[in-house]
Amino acid sequence: MKVLAVLAGRRGGNGEILAKEALMRAEELGAEVKILNLHDYDIRPCTGCESCTVKFTQKHEAPECVNKDKDDMDAIMKEWLEADGVIVAVPAYSFMPAGIWRVFSDRFLAYEPNFHKQVGNQAYFRHRVGAIIGNGGSTRSWMSLTLECININMLSQDIKVVDQMMANRAPRPGQILLDDEALLRARQLGENVVKGIKDYEGTGFLGDPGLGWCPECHSNVLSLGQPLWNGGGFPIECPICHCGGDLEKGADGRWTFVLQANGRERSMLNGMGAKDHFFEIKETMQKFFMNMETINGRRKKYVDYKPERVKAKV
Ligand SMILES: Cc1cc2nc3c(=O)[nH]c(=O)nc-3n(C[C@H](O)[C@H](O)[C@H](O)COP(=O)(O)O)c2cc1C
Repeated sequence: MKVLAVLAGRRGGNGEILAKEALMRAEELGAEVKILNLHDYDIRPCTGCESCTVKFTQKHEAPECVNKDKDDMDAIMKEWLEADGVIVAVPAYSFMPAGIWRVFSDRFLAYEPNFHKQVGNQAYFRHRVGAIIGNGGSTRSWMSLTLECININMLSQDIKVVDQMMANRAPRPGQILLDDEALLRARQLGENVVKGIKDYEGTGFLGDPGLGWCPECHSNVLSLGQPLWNGGGFPIECPICHCGGDLEKGADGRWTFVLQANGRERSMLNGMGAKDHFFEIKETMQKFFMNMETINGRRKKYVDYKPERVKAKV
């Protein structure tokens, strides 16, 4: 039973303290634990080459990232994929997860479990659970997209998120040590990850059920529904796990997000959403390859237009 903690905050910072508290509990319960801080590694931004999605969807083969041997991402992903449970601790920067987390998670595309499963890569047919710690200097309204953005990444990694917690109002490194409740909560989060590993099928969401609007992924944001690429859609959708439904007002006057009978058809929680997206990419990319002559002809106008470039320092 392997549990890996991935940190995206300061070395010795609040996220590290909370993640260590969670790991200590997981270790007490028998887990073999490891920790890494993304700041200690060379992780290049995704180049945007899309060679991974082209290989997945047009050749039906498992790709390798073009940066595989150029930085530390592949070594980190080896640990990430081997872990039975992952705990991520990411600070809020400008309402969202800190940028280094985004750089890391953009690189997930070549390691997308549901896409690898689609092309039959056996290494990805396994259960993993996870938990999210979002920490910040303020209250949730100043961390409004933090847990949500991380949750998207965990779902696209086919990780069952059994717990999410937020630690608020601790801006300076170590300040979270004044918050006994947050430390206790982190211990519980470590325990919940172990529960999820021991009983994957039987374990649901063990965090605060009132954490957010979505009854499925517990996120606290909703979107007006849009028509979907292959038809259908929902009046309201969860932009995190892609389940669909509508708002309903209860007898107590409170609004809730209620799933439609078919509201899980594109869900990121059951693999169907990712599978649907695989075929969407396949189709839209085919349109590119079939129309390359037209695109290249039209591209000339933009290649030839050369406004003055802003000079870089180096
Ligand atoms: C560039 C920057 C932006 C930040 N933006 C937010 C924010 O939007 N909301 C918030 O609650 N805290 C914000 N903070 C505070 C950090 O989330 C806080 O210091 C946190 O404890 C850092 O976690 P760490 O100790 O694990 O590195 C910001 C800090 C920095 C450096």
